[in-house]
Amino acid sequence: MTFYDEKILPFLIDKGCSLAPVMKLREKVVPLARGRVLEVGMGSGINLQLYDINKVEFVWGLEPSAGMRKKARNNIEASPVAVKLLDLPGEEIPLEDNSADTVLLTFTLCTIPDWQAGLRQMRRVLKPGGKLLFCEHGLSPDAGVRKWQDRLTPVWKKIAGGCHLNRPIADLIESAGFEIEEIHNEYAEQGPRFAGYMYYGQASAAR
Ligand SMILES: C[S@@+](CC[C@H](N)C(=O)[O-])C[C@H]1O[C@@H](n2cnc3c(N)ncnc32)[C@H](O)[C@@H]1O
Repeated sequence: MTFYDEKILPFLIDKGCSLAPVMKLREKVVPLARGRVLEVGMGSGINLQLYDINKVEFVWGLEPSAGMRKKARNNIEASPVAVKLLDLPGEEIPLEDNSADTVLLTFTLCTIPDWQAGLRQMRRVLKPGGKLLFCEHGLSPDAGVRKWQDRLTPVWKKIAGGCHLNRPIADLIESAGFEIEEIHNEYAEQGPRFAGYMYYGQASAAR
């Protein structure tokens, strides 16, 4: 692992992902989690403070990056809910079928290299009746913004840990066999529009 991956990237992601407008979006989604929760790409554990302790049994925090897991230490120690760390990528979730009541994805679907395999795994481990909660940035409906998302993604990916600016989040979720039950789209209150078109809501496994 390079110094950038181990120290600089976790620092930048933690700072950028905990800005006030981002926290406001997280607050709309994370407290909906219940039961046994799988958080895919837990990062530095920013969401841990937002879980409803009366509804959550524990959280499996899946995070493949050693640098991010290290960055998460303080938030795990301060977490009001128990956290079981899983050090594998979303494409290889080491849980049994139908084992999670909630799968939480925040600002991670942009980054998972094989998103099809990742979402297939999430669907596999989600219990019948369970929810996939998501809060992600992605492809904008505005042509002018999309043009920049497409132009910038090849460079952005290199500095932002593999993050794509132009993934059509709702389409990806549905194409993996989920039914979206609720979705909200809006630009984040601050920051560049190319990284700020948000998709948040909930889905369940389509029958
Ligand atoms: C922008 S960060 C978001 C972190 C966290 N979800 C949050 O909301 O703050 C993207 C995260 O996805 C993780 N990641 C990268 N590749 C992944 C993969 N294949 N499966 C799961 N997570 C991955 C990164 O290590 C990073 O922690």
